Amino acid sequence: METSVAANPTALPAGPGRVVLGVTGGIAAYKAAELTRILVKAGTAVDVVMTDAATRFVTPMTFQALSGRPVLTDLWQSGAGDGMGHIALSRGADAILVAPASADFLAKLAQGRADDLLSTLCLARDCPLFVAPAMNRQMWAHAATRRNVAQLVADGVVVLGPDTGELACKEHGEGRMLEPADLIAALSASRVPKLLAGKRVLLTAGPTFEAIDPVRGITNSSSGKMGFALAQAAAEAGAVVTVVAGPSALPTPTGVRRVDVTSAAQMADAVLARVADCDVFVGVAAVADYTPETAHAQKIKKSGAPLTLTLKPTLDILATVAARLGAPFCVGFAAESDEVERFAEDKRKRKKLPLLVANRAQDALGSDDNEVTLLDADGAHRLPRMDKLALARRLVAEIARRLPSP
Ligand code: C5P
Repeated sequence: METSVAANPTALPAGPGRVVLGVTGGIAAYKAAELTRILVKAGTAVDVVMTDAATRFVTPMTFQALSGRPVLTDLWQSGAGDGMGHIALSRGADAILVAPASADFLAKLAQGRADDLLSTLCLARDCPLFVAPAMNRQMWAHAATRRNVAQLVADGVVVLGPDTGELACKEHGEGRMLEPADLIAALSASRVPKLLAGKRVLLTAGPTFEAIDPVRGITNSSSGKMGFALAQAAAEAGAVVTVVAGPSALPTPTGVRRVDVTSAAQMADAVLARVADCDVFVGVAAVADYTPETAHAQKIKKSGAPLTLTLKPTLDILATVAARLGAPFCVGFAAESDEVERFAEDKRKRKKLPLLVANRAQDALGSDDNEVTLLDADGAHRLPRMDKLALARRLVAEIARRLPSP
């Protein structure tokens, strides 16, 4: 099964930053409140600017309480900066995000009009502008809106969404504002250097599950967090990313193609079917080394007597990929419980990997952060402890600088 769905909320990668959040008139304005809350929690300063219509849906007080900063609604408001608020507010901001962006506001932007604080700010900006449209499906499909959106894209505005689903008007279709987590992921990605632009990255992530019978199996405590974080970081860096994932409830990062598998054999098949046209392969999954020789078709009955299971080795996916003629740049992960660097370096050489990420098994499995050592032909390079997404972004940079130049 291949899917590409929602993202998990993340902090902006290049420091907390400051975002101007424009809110225009629409039911989805309530989602902008949640967006503000998540951004602020991640350490981002959020200056909320509301159109008059937006204040009919959510009060400025709500945004003021959530952002901890004054909310601006009027070009002539004293807090808007000595009559120069439209300039001052966008200076030093990392981005302006208009969410929700109504059909009327998109039209205004496309025409370059500046008759209220938000539209004036958008016109006077010196930072990227993102808009998250939200409207009735027919308004979105209307030729006038299509023209306006095409004009905005041509002008360099990044249009995020809309999504398809149930709309506030109870109709079903395209016009739903993207969820706050998706908007934050898009903002984050826009700030990451495109170190892997044009590259195709294939990863494995999570555990595998080896069936013993229809209800029992052998698995491990891998959460998939590191593999999914790496998939997200590679996508943010501009790569076309596919993650072959063992059983994991984690959401798929925005823009990442996901292939769900269960067993080590299925994971091997899914990887080998896709590896030929990839530039980088990263084996992050905790693949079972052994699988039952036979999976019982019926549930094994309890008899009180000892039960013996015969296990056979699985295919080493990473070593198989690395041994291919014209193999992609292969990166392995090794979780060792003792003598981490020695055992991991043995593994790197045995599997013929240009780069291996080694960590203590006790530190890595299931946790939110990790402390790793990079092993390559030049030796061992220790990295400080950091959360898995920060580590993933660092690893992407490490992979990018080791890739052969085209
Ligand atoms: O040999 P070990 O399992 O410790 O090696 C770990 C590395 O090898 C990880 O990158 C893991 O994803 C990969 N691996 C694999 N296929 C296996 C076993 C491990 O790709 N059957």
